[in-house]
Formats: sequence, structure tokens, C-alpha cells
Amino acid sequence: MNQDPIIVAIDGYSSSGKSTMAKRLAAAVGYRYVDSGAMYRAITLKAMRTGLAGASGVDEAGIVALLPTTTIDFRPVEGGQVTLLDGEDVEREIRSMEVSNMVSPVSVIPAVRHALTAMQQAFGKSRGIVMDGRDIGTTVFPDAELKVFVDAAPETRAERRFKELTAKGVVTTYEAVLANVTERDEIDRTRKESPLRCADDAVKIDNSGMTLEEQDALLLKLFNDAAGR
Ligand code: DC
Repeated sequence: MNQDPIIVAIDGYSSSGKSTMAKRLAAAVGYRYVDSGAMYRAITLKAMRTGLAGASGVDEAGIVALLPTTTIDFRPVEGGQVTLLDGEDVEREIRSMEVSNMVSPVSVIPAVRHALTAMQQAFGKSRGIVMDGRDIGTTVFPDAELKVFVDAAPETRAERRFKELTAKGVVTTYEAVLANVTERDEIDRTRKESPLRCADDAVKIDNSGMTLEEQDALLLKLFNDAAGR
């Protein structure tokens, strides 16, 4: 039986619940969890702070120039992990609606994708990793032993995200969240560089009507089959 650590790629639409899935699977099997969306959010935040992304648009060349001196990492904390941008804990800030509204235009920039893809591949070097995102199974780890593609109706996803944001104290409306989710879907799906797409060899899961427990059990079964456990 193959017991070597594997790579698990979980891709899907905004707020499809893929990070919950990925985090819970990683914890259950003792793997490292990497949130690639947090990495796109972190570089977007840096671009916003330096005036390179905002209401007036996105300064592509300026953002590309930030890349060589940018580090993005994760630090484990009680009950999860936080995202570090150049060593600073930016976990809260990167989840704001302001960053959510700017992240897609920043993540279409090819040089940004190349730089973050290289960082993500470095995280997977020693394998034993669960990474979630949009292009993990297609571009970052095309040879991942287990690929999952998660989908759910836009209204279901927007409702989940709205509840999550409200619980965190973020002031917004369901309509604003639905508009953001729909717009990000469209940009993610239609961008030239590594668009959101279900890999041919991915297992498709629509979790609209699934409980967390059902989802966990399904993922664990897929994992055990793929890892030869
Ligand atoms: O998973 P998330 O919603 O936190 O991701 C935020 C954005 O980052 C998403 O709208 C598109 C981008 N993204 C990407 O382009 N590629 C990835 N692998 C992950 C996220």
C-alpha cells in the first residue's frame, strides 16, 4: 500500500466552502493546509496600501515590481492559522469587502500568478499538503494525487459568505455579497491565465445540500482511496 504523503488540490468557486473542506481534511489527516486565495488577497492588500490598486484601477507594472520583495506565509494559531504579509499578520484585513472587491483584477496579472504559483509549489515540496484555490489542480499541482472541484449555487454561496462576514463583525448586505461572488466567478472563469476550470481528473462535488459531517466523510474516503490508506 502506498503510504507516501500526497498532494490534495481543492478548487472551486468563491465561497463554495472549499476552504472549510480543505482545513478539516488537513486537520483530520495531519497534513499542512495552504489557502492560496489568502496569498492573492495578501498581494492585493499590499497593492492597495501602496496606492497601486484602488477605485482608479490597477497599476500592473507597479504591482509586478512589488513581487520580488514580498513574502507571504502562514503562522499556526489556536484553532487555525493566520496569513503573514512581509511578516505582518494581515488575516483580518485580507477578508474585508474592500480587498474582496480588488482581488480578482490583481489576480489576473500573469506575473502575479507566476510568482504566487512558484510560492505555492514551494509549499508543496515536501508533499503532505492540502491546498485550496482556483487553479491548484490545473496549474499549480497538475499531478496532485487527489483533485476535488467544489460547486454550489451562487445564492447558497453568497448566503454562507454573508453569514461568515456578519459573524466577524463586517458590515455588508446579502445583495452586495451576492454581487461580489457573481462578479468574482465571472472574472475567475474568463481570465486568460489559468482560469477557474474543473480539471479533467477532478472529483466534482456540489455541497449545497450536504452537512459538514457528510462532507468530511466523503473527503476522507476520497483521501484514503488516493493515499492508499
Ligand atoms: O478563495 P478566495 O475567495 O479567498 O480567493 C480570493 C481570490 O483570489 C479569488 O477571487 C480569485 C483569486 N484566486 C486565484 O486567482 N487563484 C487561486 N488559486 C486562489 C484564489
